[in-house]
Amino acid sequence: MKRSLLVTSALPYANGAIHLGHLVEYIQTDIWVRFQKLIGNQATYVCADDTHGTPIMLRAEKEGITPEALIARVHNEHLRDFTGFHINFDLYHSTHSDENRECAETIYRNLQAAGLIEVREIEQYYDLEKGMFLPDRFIKGECPKCGAADQYGDNCESCGAAYTPAELKNPRSAVSGSVPVFKPSQHYFFKLSDPRCQQFLRDFTRSAPNGIPVLQHEAANKMQEWLGAPGENKLSDWDISRDAPYFGFAIPDAPGKYFYVWLDAPIGYMGAFKALAKKEGLNFDAYWKPNSNTELVHFIGKDILYFHALFWPAMLHEGGFRVPTRICAHGFLTVDGAKMSKSRGTFITAESYLQQKLNPEWLRYYFASKLNGTMEDIDLSLDDFIAKVNSDLVGKYVNIASRCAGFIKKQFDGVLGETDQAIFDQIITDEALTEIAAAFEARDSARALRQIMYLADQANLYVNDRQPWLLAKDPEQRAQLHQVASTALNLFRSLSVLLKPVLPALAAQVEAFYNADPLVWADARKPLSAGHCINDYAHLMNRIERPMVDALIAANSDSLQAPAPAKADKKADPKQAAQKQVKAEESKVGTHDHISIDDFTKVDLRIAKIVNAEHVEGADKLIRLQLDIGETENGEPRLRQVFAGIKSAYDPAQLVGRLTVMVANLAPRKMKFGLSEGMVLAASDTDEKHPGLFILSPDAGAQPGMRVK
Ligand code: 2FM
Ligand code: ZN
Repeated sequence: MKRSLLVTSALPYANGAIHLGHLVEYIQTDIWVRFQKLIGNQATYVCADDTHGTPIMLRAEKEGITPEALIARVHNEHLRDFTGFHINFDLYHSTHSDENRECAETIYRNLQAAGLIEVREIEQYYDLEKGMFLPDRFIKGECPKCGAADQYGDNCESCGAAYTPAELKNPRSAVSGSVPVFKPSQHYFFKLSDPRCQQFLRDFTRSAPNGIPVLQHEAANKMQEWLGAPGENKLSDWDISRDAPYFGFAIPDAPGKYFYVWLDAPIGYMGAFKALAKKEGLNFDAYWKPNSNTELVHFIGKDILYFHALFWPAMLHEGGFRVPTRICAHGFLTVDGAKMSKSRGTFITAESYLQQKLNPEWLRYYFASKLNGTMEDIDLSLDDFIAKVNSDLVGKYVNIASRCAGFIKKQFDGVLGETDQAIFDQIITDEALTEIAAAFEARDSARALRQIMYLADQANLYVNDRQPWLLAKDPEQRAQLHQVASTALNLFRSLSVLLKPVLPALAAQVEAFYNADPLVWADARKPLSAGHCINDYAHLMNRIERPMVDALIAANSDSLQAPAPAKADKKADPKQAAQKQVKAEESKVGTHDHISIDDFTKVDLRIAKIVNAEHVEGADKLIRLQLDIGETENGEPRLRQVFAGIKSAYDPAQLVGRLTVMVANLAPRKMKFGLSEGMVLAASDTDEKHPGLFILSPDAGAQPGMRVK
């Protein structure tokens, strides 16, 4: 049955540029939504700018414009960047909209009617010069624990201590520099400590609509920690108001009080949908009232779980609306193994990436190859980025079409011949398609792409084996040439279907080349018939060249602003200088004996638990292992099958339950006995002085799925 899905990504703040860290999430969500549409589900994807709050108000003031003018400008910039990366929102709205105000007021009034809003007086730092209360981030002083200067009002970046603004020594307003004073004010609280909320949240965080947990395993554990043991009642009431001056929505019947930005931000999902519903005549209630048949799926970063898994569902439930079906959190992005940094040029904006003419689908592919549906951080290793895109997309996938399209065009007037159905069925199997679909569904695009590249390898092996370039030289082999080139092009077309969620622009070019309707999932299993006329082939994708990436880093590097070094006769390029230094160091120690750290980190080593081990009938060296590396599929543990050549040294029964180390990102290999999805590590003596094989074991405490580095 066709599923109805309403999907969101977190709303970016309207005072900053979209960067690659943001794009992880939008690309992940977009791939998931495109996959859902491709398999025939009804999916709607909305998002918006998160426009309210003190930082936006002060930023506008600094620029000498109104907050409205600032958010209008940033809205255009964000939309430009998202469009550039092919993020296909059904609507990209704003939290500063009539629809959002209506939704926020409705929820607030419903909470009030349920007795869940309470007004209390609190004391807060106030800037007398500026005439405003100061959020914690706008108070600076000395850390009460370590004395470090210039620390924020809530925690110390030097020693990590958390404290209240009242504890900060020598506090100063970061807005005016004046000494703030304490001043009382009435604040509005959402009573999360109410037993109704606590009970609801306990049930919600453990729920599994349609058999799939609403939260990932790690997230659910975190929530249990925050909620405390049953009866413990650890949640405090949530302060949802801020005093004027504030850029936000006025709270009804509360003069001078505004909703805190985090109240109306998630309501922005609803507000955006409301605007879309108006535009397209959709039934708002069918999506948002309890018992809705639509699945509500939120994609977020792991840093904002608290808001999405506690505050937001409680607001919805107690406010009379349906609750999320699934909250999908992802990890942070690092670049070359470190936090993005302006000085290193790795704080890369979406705009600069597009301006430097890097292909957005390279990044879509790379992120997709890293995302596996967990909350683990993902690393953009720049060398690996270049290597993977060039090898997978250009070297494997596009290669199939570029090797065979010319024959059809030049020798057969662009008309396809018969496909070798047996070969086609052997490569594009129902089993492979089901597995790939399951991986996309579970947001494990890394696994989907590994499997798709395995199919691309098979297609290339077929072409290598039939050597159409030799067939083309022999007029007697003309029919054979027609069949080989047509079969290869149909295999390429099937791969294009599978890659379409990740590479939508490329898929559009492929669709034009095939001169047929837009590709849908079922097309992957159906080759085009003989007699179908295709269009001219235009080259589909270029390789990434290292200088393009260097230029991108340079364009984002703050240190370019630094004075040029003496004697420098051309523009300083910090990246090149650093590389030169590394090269000089390397040459001292004989670089041929070494690999770079980037080369090493390409190998994804994981702790694996041997869940099952058995002899393989007909194989004298192999044991079939089922390994747990912490992967899940639809909420169930997903085991990797590996055929290990360790039969001479181990009895399968000895192995079950042991932990070892596996290479998790080795391309899956089809063996006579089945698919081998990785490799376990074992030591052996090459000159056989010490015979035997010894599989590796970690120290106690290591858990399945932990990364080995
Ligand atoms: O953390 C952030 O960037 C917030 N602007 C996310 C808001 S998501 C939703 F709740 F609106
Ligand atoms: Zn400190």
